[in-house]
Amino acid sequence: FDGMTLVELAKRTGEGIGVLQGILINVGESIDSEFYPLSIDIAELIAMEVGASVKRIHVSEGKEILPRPPVVTVMGHVDHGKTSLLDALRQTSVAANEAGGITQHLGAFVVSMQSGASITFLDTPGHAAFSAMRARGAAVTDIVVLVVAADDGVMPQTLEAISHAKAANVPIVVAVNKCDKPAANSERVKLQLASEGLLLEDMGGDIQVVEVSALKKTGLDNLEEALLLQAEVMNLKARVDGPAQAYVVEARLHKGRGPLATAIVKAGTLACGQHVVVGSEWGRIRAIRDVVGNLAERATPAMPVEIEGLKGLPMAGDDIIVVQSEERARMLSAGRKKKFERDRLLKISNGRAEELEQSE
Ligand code: GTP
Ligand code: MG
Repeated sequence: FDGMTLVELAKRTGEGIGVLQGILINVGESIDSEFYPLSIDIAELIAMEVGASVKRIHVSEGKEILPRPPVVTVMGHVDHGKTSLLDALRQTSVAANEAGGITQHLGAFVVSMQSGASITFLDTPGHAAFSAMRARGAAVTDIVVLVVAADDGVMPQTLEAISHAKAANVPIVVAVNKCDKPAANSERVKLQLASEGLLLEDMGGDIQVVEVSALKKTGLDNLEEALLLQAEVMNLKARVDGPAQAYVVEARLHKGRGPLATAIVKAGTLACGQHVVVGSEWGRIRAIRDVVGNLAERATPAMPVEIEGLKGLPMAGDDIIVVQSEERARMLSAGRKKKFERDRLLKISNGRAEELEQSE
């Protein structure tokens, strides 16, 4: 929502105005009028206090909307070559980037095509991370590359990947890998996938299948083309200006630089100097680095960046929101911490109650 008043918020949450005003005063905000629109941050804080949730809808009206690169995640059965495929793709990205060979570990990289198009790949460490991020509402992935080894065929985690992609409503592009192997049989893989209900292109459906070898680095161009084609069909666009809506893909603690988060902007622009709340952490963006480690002033949609300046370590899947001031950031972060702690305790006590019930 945008600019809800205290009166409306009271109506929506079913709480008295007095209660909400009390909370406002507690968090150090003054309220001039009950009919004065609240900022989204304050509304979220109040809603959290009374146990309601606020969904931030990012208004894109009247702003510049431009095509954006697809964000791709690789999934598949153990040992089918996910890491090898990412490495092979990453090499083409490093070759394309004149910075030459500097691959700091970012958890993401960008492959740039001669046509000027690009693809963002995420190094997600497995299906669990994908579903955890999705469960937390972080819909960063546009397309799943399903890696299936041509000699091994469809296996349990292949099926798991398919169901994750389906549940997330993310289209699949199949990469039949290890096609260099003598035992490779991509026709068999296709039949297996078809019998799992995947509507493959060869068979009149729209799921593209590309034969690759991560080892011999063959078919990578075709895979990239297939991904761009899929992206084109999806007509991926994003608002470029305005406040950023972004997600954490990975976070780590750096000895000198403190907490670092790899982030992907979904919409808007993230800029140096902005105050942010990241999950339940907060900070002010001190530096933004691109995939090759160069400093950048800002991050635009689908561009993986590393941000520096957070006070604590966020988690993968955390949302990043830009707020007006440090005070807001602190306040919202504190409010969220309190809520997370409350939810955690609630979960524990619910768990205990269940245990008790079971033991009875
Ligand atoms: P996990 O992360 O353990 O699930 O495995 P993964 O899917 O990342 O597979 P990984 O890339 O580690 O590859 C597993 C094995 O298959 C390694 O020994 C690779 O060298 C080999 N491999 C990967 N791609 C190819 C390929 O295209 N051809 C051949 N012949 N071997 C490959
Ligand atoms: Mg791997």
